[in-house]
Amino acid sequence: MKFYDIFTPGSPPHRKDFLVGRQDDLGKLINYLNSPGIHPIVVGPRGIGKTSLVQFVLDEYKYKSQIEANTVTNFDELARCILDDLGLQSHKLQTLVKETEETKEAKGKLAVAEGKLQHKKKTTESQSGLSNVQLSPQLLKRQLMSFKHESIISIDELDDLEHSDIPLKLAKFAKSCSNQSRWMKQKFIYSGIGRDAHSLFGAHLSSPRNHPVIYLAALKKDDFNFFLNTAEKKLHTVIPRHIRDDIISDADGFPYYMHQVCFHMFEIYEKDRSKVINNEHYAKAKKRAFDEAFSHFLRKYKYTVYRLQDLHKDILREMIVPKKRHYSYPTLEKHLLAECGYSLKDIKKHFRYLMDNGYIAFRKADQTVSLYDALLGPFLRIKLRLKDPQAISEPDMPLFKHLNKSANKIINSDQ
Ligand SMILES: Nc1ncnc2c1ncn2[C@@H]1O[C@H](COP(=O)(O)OP(=O)(O)OP(=O)(O)O)[C@@H](O)[C@H]1O
Ligand SMILES: [Mg+2]
Repeated sequence: MKFYDIFTPGSPPHRKDFLVGRQDDLGKLINYLNSPGIHPIVVGPRGIGKTSLVQFVLDEYKYKSQIEANTVTNFDELARCILDDLGLQSHKLQTLVKETEETKEAKGKLAVAEGKLQHKKKTTESQSGLSNVQLSPQLLKRQLMSFKHESIISIDELDDLEHSDIPLKLAKFAKSCSNQSRWMKQKFIYSGIGRDAHSLFGAHLSSPRNHPVIYLAALKKDDFNFFLNTAEKKLHTVIPRHIRDDIISDADGFPYYMHQVCFHMFEIYEKDRSKVINNEHYAKAKKRAFDEAFSHFLRKYKYTVYRLQDLHKDILREMIVPKKRHYSYPTLEKHLLAECGYSLKDIKKHFRYLMDNGYIAFRKADQTVSLYDALLGPFLRIKLRLKDPQAISEPDMPLFKHLNKSANKIINSDQ
């Protein structure tokens, strides 16, 4: 097994034993899927592991569809992708459209003598002009009801769909499916970045009891250690304890951070042909991880993150160092005024810039600020050079264990 089979910053874990710390969430998800009329929602911050968890379950089903809602233009296209994935689109949809046309004609003004002629024409039209039919929530549901195999449909990336008809129509569809669950063999998992169902569906979801929410929280230290222990065994390589602890502490519970840093660290280490992983490998890996993250998961910040000015960095540093989720704005202002000597006008201006560019969010109710994307924390820590990875304690001394502990204490108290 190679390091890139284990550290997969670009995709969900390749093997099931590399999904760690999600036993409870997995248990809940499976129970919901076994429960009639229940179609769960998986939410959490960016990069916490939503797709990976859903993928884990999807692998168990023979018939499945996996769509990222932000890659289709509207509900019609989304519906077609689902039907395509289940192998339903071509023949069944034609039959349904034909039937609809026939019903319309029967109700209409057609004379019996003309009937046969007209009927023929309509049938041909419906077969050649399928692309003209808009798939409504109702049409999609009826199509799915005709599919009698147990199947699972994941609709992911449901956030960020401001100008799309998908949240509204999908909410209607979801309600309708739950109402007729007895005749449906399909299960849906809806997922995306957010705290609750509202983050994905806005106010449109009218039957929340049918859509319980699983919120994915940060992974724990033990989960990271379990992952890295397995990785070390598979790769027959030890990650020095001080580096491993540092990665885990900086990750803030985000598996993506660990994958990104370790991927590059192993790549550099293997190329270097050294006997052990050292601080230099780690330092270089962090720089690469930073660039990679801002080209992919955090790409919306790519064009601003390299242009941050000193005051922007100082504001962010004030928020990242204490590792709190919410930070008091008045305290932040006071620190910057007293300790850094900036003017109030400048602080407010730079603060506004960070808000406008999606770095931080301000909560009026209690005057607190937080990072808009919690995943920014670990990566900004690299940019703001809060500690020099080259300077953290080396593992090759006799009293290593003891020294390592105190060095870590110093590093942590610096934060
Ligand atoms: N439980 C886990 N154990 C180990 N690695 C994980 C776990 N969950 C996710 N990962 C890894 O973390 C990274 C991010 O995972 P994933 O893409 O599932 O996150 P996400 O929440 O769907 O992200 P996004 O918000 O961008 O959609 C991937 O590299 C994945 O392999
Ligand atoms: Mg995802």
